[in-house]
Amino acid sequence: GKVLLAYSGGLDTSCILAWLIEQGYETLAYIADVGQEEDFETIRAKALAVGASKVFVEDLKKEFVEELIFPAIQANAIYESVYLLGTSLARPVIARRQIEIATREGCKYVSHGCTGKGNDQVRFELAYYALNHDIEVIAPWRLPVFFNRFQGRPDLLAFAADKGIPVVQTAAKPWSTDENLFHISYEAGILEDPNVTPPKDMWKLTVDPEDAPNKPERITITFDKGIPVKVVNNDDKTVVTEPVALFTYLNTVARRNGVGRIDIVESRFIGVKSRGCYETPGGTILRTAHKDLEGLTLDGQLRALRDQSITIPYSRCLYNGQYFSPECEFLNKSIPLTQVNVTGDVKLKLYKGNTIIEGRVARGPGSKLYNIRESSMDEQGGYNPEDADGFIKVHSIRLKKWTPTEQF
Ligand code: ARG
Ligand code: SIN
Repeated sequence: GKVLLAYSGGLDTSCILAWLIEQGYETLAYIADVGQEEDFETIRAKALAVGASKVFVEDLKKEFVEELIFPAIQANAIYESVYLLGTSLARPVIARRQIEIATREGCKYVSHGCTGKGNDQVRFELAYYALNHDIEVIAPWRLPVFFNRFQGRPDLLAFAADKGIPVVQTAAKPWSTDENLFHISYEAGILEDPNVTPPKDMWKLTVDPEDAPNKPERITITFDKGIPVKVVNNDDKTVVTEPVALFTYLNTVARRNGVGRIDIVESRFIGVKSRGCYETPGGTILRTAHKDLEGLTLDGQLRALRDQSITIPYSRCLYNGQYFSPECEFLNKSIPLTQVNVTGDVKLKLYKGNTIIEGRVARGPGSKLYNIRESSMDEQGGYNPEDADGFIKVHSIRLKKWTPTEQF
C-alpha cells in the first residue's frame, strides 16, 4: 500500500522513510512549511534520495497565521497560564494538508515521527481520524519491531549509513526542538533536569534581553475585531498590513528586543510532566496588546464569560489535539462574537525583554464602553452617586444572611 509520511529531513524521519520502504510500502514524503528556518529544496532532494516515490513541499504559513494564530490571539489562548501553544497551533494545519494529499494520492496510510510519550502523536492522529475516518496510521515509534531495532541514536546512525542516508555532520544539540513561524520549543536532553539552566547559546529566535539595545523601540498595533491588521514602527515608520508579513515583522522587532522567552514545566495530555523552554516573539507582543485593547473595548460580563468558557476550553482543545472536534468547532465559531468591539490601536514600547503598554485608543462601537466623563473622579458625567446606594443594598441582602465559618 501507499503511505504519506510527514517528513522533516532530520535523522528520525529519514530513517522512518527508509524503513517504510524496506517494509514494502510505496512511501510518499510530505514536508510542511509552517515558517521554520529550513532549506526546503535540500529536504525535498533528500527525501527523493532516500527513496520517496513523490515529495510534496507545502507552504502552510498563510493558513497557519490566519486560521490558527489569529484566532488564538483573539481568544487569548494560553495553556497552564504560561505556554502560548506554538507547537499545538501548527499541528492542525500540518495534519489537514497531510490528509488532503493522502486522500488525493490514494494513500491508505499516513505516518509521522512522533514518540509514544508526547502530545504530538495525539494531535496528529486525532486530526487524521477526524478528517478521514478510514485512514490508517503507522506510528513507528510505537511499534516494537521499530523501537526494539532502533534503541538510540547510534542505531539510527548505523541504519542511515547502511541506507546511504546523508547525515548532516553537525554535533547533535543536547535537546530537541520544534520550530514554526510562531515559536520554537526546546525539550529533552539536558533540559530534562528541571533545575538545569539552559545555556545562553540555546536560544535561537530572540537575543538575550541583557544584550538587547539600551534604547526602547516603539510600535503601534491596529486591531480590527480582535485581528491585527496593521503594525507601525513609530521610530523608523515601517508599516506592515499583510497577515504573514505583519506577524513576521512582529517577530523581527520582538527578536531584537529579547521578547518572548519562557522556561516552564508543563502537564502533557498523556499525564507526564515535561520541562520545556520556548521563544514566542511576535506572539508575546500580540497577546499583550490584544488583552490591553480588550480592557478598553470588551464588555466586562462578556469578558468574564469568555475567559472561563472559551479561553480555557479552547486552549485545552488545542493542547490536547482536539482542534477538529465538535466542541472546538463550537468554540471557534464563538470567538468572533466576542470580538466585534475589539477594534482600535495599542501603543507599545519594547525594551530588554519587556512589552510595555503606553496607550490605546478604541474605534467603532467599542469606543462607547470607556466614557471619559462617566469614568472620571472629577465629574458627575450623567452618573448619579445615589444610585450606588441601592446597588450595594441589594447585593448585601444575601451577605447579611451569612456567617463566616471562621473569624476573619
Ligand atoms: N511541549 C510542547 C507541546 O506539547 C512542545 C512540543 C514539541 N514537539 C516536538 N515534536 N519537539 O506543545
Ligand atoms: C514527541 O514526543 O514526539 C515530542 C514531544 C511531544 O509531542 O510532546
